[in-house]
Amino acid sequence: MKQITDGVAVITGGGSGLGKALAMSASRRAMKLVLADIQPEALDRTVQELRTRGTDAIGVAVDVSDPAAVEALADQAERRFGAVNLLFNNAGVTSGGPVWQSTEKDWDWVLGVNLKGVVNGVRSFTPRMLASAAADPAYEGCIVNTASMAGLITAPGMGIYSVSKHAVVALSECLHYDLQLVTTQLRAAVLCPSYVPTDIGQSERNRPAHLANSEAPTKAQLASRAAAQQAVSQGAISAEEVAEITFRAVEGERFYVFPSPETLPVFRARCGHVLDQTTPELPYELFPALKDRRDRLLAAARR
Ligand SMILES: NC(=O)c1ccc[n+]([C@@H]2O[C@H](COP(=O)([O-])OP(=O)(O)OC[C@H]3O[C@@H](n4cnc5c(N)ncnc54)[C@H](O)[C@@H]3O)[C@@H](O)[C@H]2O)c1
Repeated sequence: MKQITDGVAVITGGGSGLGKALAMSASRRAMKLVLADIQPEALDRTVQELRTRGTDAIGVAVDVSDPAAVEALADQAERRFGAVNLLFNNAGVTSGGPVWQSTEKDWDWVLGVNLKGVVNGVRSFTPRMLASAAADPAYEGCIVNTASMAGLITAPGMGIYSVSKHAVVALSECLHYDLQLVTTQLRAAVLCPSYVPTDIGQSERNRPAHLANSEAPTKAQLASRAAAQQAVSQGAISAEEVAEITFRAVEGERFYVFPSPETLPVFRARCGHVLDQTTPELPYELFPALKDRRDRLLAAARR
């Protein structure tokens, strides 16, 4: 995709954090914007901010885990602005703790948003984007799924989140292969950030009542949550930098987007264990935030 100077972008989770930063990067490229989010106040604030900057933007209240809501989002985006060029399946939530302590509701919530949300976006938008490509030889599009470095590496206390993000990486790679068979006008990319200061540590704010746990979190779940909040707040790269790196990757037609490549040696170490068939062992010395997570979980287990 050449340098982006116009077109239409749809961003889920567009009200805050990375989604909002992606919206600002799109606005700088004179794109028209459809932001979707489950949190109406944050969504309204971001849309207002974009309009103040002169961007033609709308906000749509959507729970991405609901396929009918995502289909309605695609209808609304097309009705308002026509062909969609960029789709950012970005909305996400986090939950932590030992795998066996996560409840069925934890799994339903996190997989519902992080995995089904992306699936719903891909199912509702891809046929429309392919139709746009078929109708216009000048059309160019890209579907960018937000995974995480947790989609490439595993660590204690990150079970559900890591499972959901591994699935997003796999889904994105398969989408890439599938698209390659039918068009050169629509591409896929996967964004794998490491820790970035956003509101992800307060994900519970958007948890629907019917998926709330009846029991209080365990010590280990609280320790995982505290570790995640600390790591996120100390993230070495800003959401704005991640967004710009992502747009440049889309413009450069790169599939893997790794805004914090310094964490890749941890992935390399994992690949070594897989290929050599040796027992997985995390090189904690390469990733202090994961060492802190392990130490907090050990302390919680001793209490
Ligand atoms: N911040 C990090 O350290 C980090 C690292 C790696 C990956 N990510 C991923 O980046 C993406 C964006 O997260 P963020 O860090 O900006 O967090 P954030 O909490 O600041 O933003 C997430 C947005 O998603 C929205 N959202 C939550 N549930 C939703 C639902 N069911 N339907 C629609 N919208 C929903 C929230 O309201 C919020 O606006 C997520 O997929 C997250 O997993 C974040």
